[in-house]
Amino acid sequence: MSRIGFRRRGAPAPNDWTWSAADHMSELHDGDVLSADLEARVDPARFREAMSRAPAAVHIVTTDGPAGPGGITATAVTSISAEPPLVLFCIYRASPTAERMIANNVFCINTLASPDEALADVFAGRTHQHLEERFANGTWTKLETGSPVLASAAAVFDCRIVEVKPAATHYIVIGAVEAVSFGPEQESLVYLHRKYRTL
Ligand SMILES: Cc1cc2nc3c(=O)[nH]c(=O)nc-3n(C[C@H](O)[C@H](O)[C@H](O)COP(=O)(O)O)c2cc1C
Repeated sequence: MSRIGFRRRGAPAPNDWTWSAADHMSELHDGDVLSADLEARVDPARFREAMSRAPAAVHIVTTDGPAGPGGITATAVTSISAEPPLVLFCIYRASPTAERMIANNVFCINTLASPDEALADVFAGRTHQHLEERFANGTWTKLETGSPVLASAAAVFDCRIVEVKPAATHYIVIGAVEAVSFGPEQESLVYLHRKYRTL
């Protein structure tokens, strides 16, 4: 029987919007962590193959603040609710960008248009640039939170972190949207069959 159980030792799971994500990070480092009890029934390679057939919008998710700037290319981005406007995205727990993002307590989702395909490669680490080095590419500005905003993005969701949930290898990061903006209308960048496509 497949079973996915998450047990939390110590304090109850946070559900208070004033709760700080950075506090949660230090809890994790203190050893007050989730213990994941996962019994996989599907081969990870088959799971990846199935996921590669699901077309996904491509975003660059950025952060900036006292911990410094960072950004990654991400497809694991979802709208949660419109009232209030909430979004989530998933980031690998060992990512140096994740550590900065949680410490900064802010992030910005920049939804890419097709002309920015090369930028998607930069923020996926394919040009071997890291953290602030990645922002030498593209034109960046700011909205409310101070996170980098890509001037040419199709859409921008500037967010303050309200919750971070560890889930296996990743964090689920939930953000309250503090500002949005739209770029010029052009074709979208989509990831499908392990390749970028234009829609
Ligand atoms: C199309 C595409 C989608 C990706 N989606 C995600 C994602 O949703 N979450 C994630 O953690 N990494 C994702 N990645 C991988 C990160 O972009 C990559 O590991 C990045 O370089 C991490 O930055 P870091 O060096 O700061 O950890 C994706 C990569 C590609 C090419």
